[in-house]
Amino acid sequence: MKEEKREKAIAELNYPEAPKMVTEYPGPKSKILWGEDFLLETPQRATGLAWVTAVEEAKGACFKDADGNIFIDGCSSIAVSSVGHCHPKVVQAIQEQAARLGHGFDLCTSMKVKLLKKMIETAPPGLKDSSFITLVMSGTDAAEAAVKQAKMITGRINIVAFEGAYHGVFGTANAMTTGAVYRKNYGPLMPGVIHLPYPYCYRCPFDLAYPQCKMQCAEFVDYQLNKPYTGKDNVAAIIAEGIQGEGGYVVPPKEWWPMMRKIADKNGCLLVDDEVQSGFGKTGKLWAIEHFDCQPDIMTFGKAVGGDQPVAGIFTKAEYGNKLATASQPITFSGNTISMAAALANYEIMLDPEMDLMGRAEKLGNEFQMMMKEAQKTIEQIGEIRGMGLLQGIELVKDPKSKEPVNRRAILGLLTGEMMSRGLWTVMAGRYGNVIRFMPPLTMRHDHFIWCIETIIDVLKSKRDELSR
Ligand SMILES: Cc1ncc(COP(=O)(O)O)c(C=O)c1O
Repeated sequence: MKEEKREKAIAELNYPEAPKMVTEYPGPKSKILWGEDFLLETPQRATGLAWVTAVEEAKGACFKDADGNIFIDGCSSIAVSSVGHCHPKVVQAIQEQAARLGHGFDLCTSMKVKLLKKMIETAPPGLKDSSFITLVMSGTDAAEAAVKQAKMITGRINIVAFEGAYHGVFGTANAMTTGAVYRKNYGPLMPGVIHLPYPYCYRCPFDLAYPQCKMQCAEFVDYQLNKPYTGKDNVAAIIAEGIQGEGGYVVPPKEWWPMMRKIADKNGCLLVDDEVQSGFGKTGKLWAIEHFDCQPDIMTFGKAVGGDQPVAGIFTKAEYGNKLATASQPITFSGNTISMAAALANYEIMLDPEMDLMGRAEKLGNEFQMMMKEAQKTIEQIGEIRGMGLLQGIELVKDPKSKEPVNRRAILGLLTGEMMSRGLWTVMAGRYGNVIRFMPPLTMRHDHFIWCIETIIDVLKSKRDELSR
């Protein structure tokens, strides 16, 4: 498909008039609904509390609220809507499947078989055509399933995770997650989780600079796992995110994943790649791990795989199947047929060579980097711009020399509120809450994409003084 034809097809997936604010943000109807919801749902949830809008419908990279305001979705509803909201092919697949068969507890369905074949055929090296899949309901479940299998396969009990990690909010997944807000008053957390430093080069835990550092952080993992008397024994798995997400879109240097592979092999433990956030096309390849020369033993997936439906799970190397007891993990809703149908349609859209959405993500990612780096020359609060494809983060600092993070409260109130009032939804991340994450649907219109970047730049310029305080 020629570029022009593809862009035309993409434009048709979106509201032509977006962004369009017909009321002030928040609009009056949204405010009332939001107030009701506030009392009905748990205060533990996140996004619904921070963004005062009641979403009624969505199309492509846009959503409409109860007041008729049309926003541009700069975060794919938290890394989920990669092919865009309500893609007509996904909607059709859901409608057709819903009329035939919704649920069939753990049974074989032709829809499930079709999807799993497609997934295994397109898995990254090491898992492609040589793995099996465990289906669960959420990314948290996927992390739990990975840990459970790693323990059962190795007969060992400890897990190495990394500082800055996010793997979920219950059980071992929560214990592997490092954000204080997720851990407070929940302890004692699941025992057996060891955290080691992550290659966060902008704020190197060893105060070194890449590449002169000679990958000190990875060498430290090797030391901890493979030298005597460190107390880090009986390790079942090393688990890390393909690219760290909640931790601030931190991309590890190219050597890091291959080094983790070698360390795991030397130790005899498994290597688990959590692709719940970084996976499914956003980085320009189907799986982020494909950018690195590394083959994990287990890989998790979730979020964008389901095409707006909750589909999550793990790939496991086929050779480990005989270590897992039959019927040791029944899950009522796993393999829900409507979700399988949505995911299959979603896969077909993502892998369509004519549309080449992943190639487009890579191209747009380069454009994002170029424009933001240009803006960085005049906005000194832009500390670092990093990412791959359409998974990009902008780390904000008060001052580029000291790298002191901007004030977390200032960010939420000032920046994201101002962006929403202009019609752009973005979400923050990072250990200090100071990273704007930009991960729009891969079907965002190009003019919308440029508008998003210009809006982010303009908002940063207009709030410069407040950010430096
Ligand atoms: C890397 C990673 N793993 C696991 C999870 C948990 O996924 P869920 O929210 O679907 O439980 C997330 C969610 O953001 C994630 O980013």
